[in-house]
Amino acid sequence: MARRPVIAGNWKMHNLQQEAIDLTNGIMQAIREEEKSRLPEVIIAPTFTSLYAANKALKDCGCGKVRLAAQNCYFEEKGAFTGECSVQMLKDTGCEYIIIGHSERRQYFGETDEMVNKKAQAILQNGLIPIICCGESLEQREAGVTDYHIASQITKALRDISSSDAAKSIIAYEPIWAIGTGKTCDSKEANRVISMIRNVVKGLYDENTADSIRILYGGSVKPETIKEQMAQSDIDGALVGGASLKVDSFSQIIKGAM
Ligand code: PGA
Repeated sequence: MARRPVIAGNWKMHNLQQEAIDLTNGIMQAIREEEKSRLPEVIIAPTFTSLYAANKALKDCGCGKVRLAAQNCYFEEKGAFTGECSVQMLKDTGCEYIIIGHSERRQYFGETDEMVNKKAQAILQNGLIPIICCGESLEQREAGVTDYHIASQITKALRDISSSDAAKSIIAYEPIWAIGTGKTCDSKEANRVISMIRNVVKGLYDENTADSIRILYGGSVKPETIKEQMAQSDIDGALVGGASLKVDSFSQIIKGAM
């Protein structure tokens, strides 16, 4: 089955509103000549305070080539949860995707597998798509428990999620030691882990679901690495951090995935 590639930019805690507008416009300008049907699904994930501004820039352009994601959400609908944003609030701001379980959220903000699962369910119930992150630390890799750890993260994240919801979800495999370090995971090794993840999905559901779910690689993705990553059998795209903050590098990555 042909899975449509995805290139998603995780802006993390960067960009004031005007910077977000400029970057959004810059990306759209850089891909304006490309036919929409040939482009990967391009997603940008600004921080909460820039979502409205970025969404307005996307709407004003009207080309429909770039979609909006949030970097986090809370799973409850509303209520006394100071500082949190519900899925409905993010949907109301134009988000179609929400990144959950990023290693930085797990590490600094105590996000657990159970929370990732609750967030995934809330996102899918509201008709949005979760981008579920997983990945091992250097210590786990050196201890030889990478596959066990990733399989456990994915199994817990997908608990009580139907096969049709799982099929439209996106997973991002991001080895923690490769994030923001400039050290990209070898493409063949990333592909090996990603096919292992696909196999876990097959075990939880069936072959169709495993064939449909898109699994991205993340961790120091650059214009120079994208072609080789995309050439792998199971890598369906990239979740890009640092290189998504510049029009040049992000648009080169998008074009490298075509
Ligand atoms: P990086 O970040 O591309 O800067 O390594 C990736 C991510 O954290 O999603």
